[in-house]
Amino acid sequence: MSNLIRETVTSVHHWNDTLFSFTTTRNQGLRFKNGHFTMIGLEINDKPLLRAYSIASANYEEEMEFFSIKVQDGPLTQHLQKLAVGDEVLVGTKPVGTLVTDHLLPGKNLYLLSTGTGLAPFLSIIKDPDVYEQFDKVILTHGVRNISELAYRDRIENELPNNEYFGDIVREKLLYYPTVTREEFRNQGRLTDLLTSGKLTADLGLEDLNPETDRFMLCGSPAMLADFTKILDERGFKETRSGDLGHYVIERAFVEK
Ligand code: A2P
Repeated sequence: MSNLIRETVTSVHHWNDTLFSFTTTRNQGLRFKNGHFTMIGLEINDKPLLRAYSIASANYEEEMEFFSIKVQDGPLTQHLQKLAVGDEVLVGTKPVGTLVTDHLLPGKNLYLLSTGTGLAPFLSIIKDPDVYEQFDKVILTHGVRNISELAYRDRIENELPNNEYFGDIVREKLLYYPTVTREEFRNQGRLTDLLTSGKLTADLGLEDLNPETDRFMLCGSPAMLADFTKILDERGFKETRSGDLGHYVIERAFVEK
């Protein structure tokens, strides 16, 4: 357990039957980059049961925040979904990950493409003032099946633009594009289709995709990542590999049960 610390749950929010978020205390020594993930879990039968979770809070915030699915018979989430304020969770002390802007060539537009709980690392990134220094536009997309899965929508649309420190720059640079596939909504369809058809860029008033100017971070299911990788590769974008900076980086959304 040397790589784990105990933190205390400070709040829990259930978005719907399948998604919830919680915050914990944060050890002052825990350092991470916005976009990183770490191991979190619980002690079950005296043994730590851990899964990788993206950190949804920004690295300057006092608390840690995590966004999770609930699976009724999931080894970890069947317990995790019952967390209450005051409970203890185990948090890994060595956050890591590829979804950090230092891993990308400089560019003009940063597209954050997520489905489901793949939104989590981007919640941290959109609260990072440095990201807005590096890019002219930050485009946060979130693809889900149903409207009730558009977690954090109010915070993204209403709270962040009114943040007392960087609300101005968020209003100027952050574009939020939620889309729903199985219910009526203002944006509908899979992000892959919306990107290839040009609808996403047209809806947002952005130019067609261009490797000179556009950078991407992808976080979603293995199928979503495979489809997007193909689309981007076909259009001349290169993935960052072993320190060789490219136009996009990917991370699997950690939907382990
Ligand atoms: P769809 O409803 O058409 O399957 P999931 O909950 O399965 O992870 O899906 C979350 C969202 O991602 C849904 O809107 C789903 O659309 C969409 N999705 C699933 N697979 C892909 C893919 N390969 N590429 C893009 N979007 C996908």
